[in-house]
Amino acid sequence: MLRGLFGRRPSARATVQVEPHGWRFEVEPGQTLLQAALAHGLPWPSRCRVGSCTTCRCRLLEGEVRALTDTSYVLTKEQLAGRVILACQSQPRGDVRVHLGRVRTTLPCDAAANDAAPADLPSP
Ligand code: FES
Repeated sequence: MLRGLFGRRPSARATVQVEPHGWRFEVEPGQTLLQAALAHGLPWPSRCRVGSCTTCRCRLLEGEVRALTDTSYVLTKEQLAGRVILACQSQPRGDVRVHLGRVRTTLPCDAAANDAAPADLPSP
């Protein structure tokens, strides 16, 4: 009953397809897109991992996600209207397809990774 009141936790794996890179990976229940991508060794850009820097942003092309935090404080109205999401704060609700502009070209432990520019995104 409480789940009905407070929302359901995803109970099944979801498949994520990432354009234009052709990546495809599984997200376990309770994982965010970013956690799953990094667990699969993908160079998804990220910095804070708590929803404040927007480095991990991507555009949701198909499907639905559950946002763990209110992203309206860090994303613009235009980005929200264009279905931009934060991978570190998004749990898929079923299979999703997203667009990720730029990928990380350095290892996470490389100091240069902390200065990486946010991902490029197409116009809405
Ligand atoms: S890594 Fe900073 S908002 Fe996702």
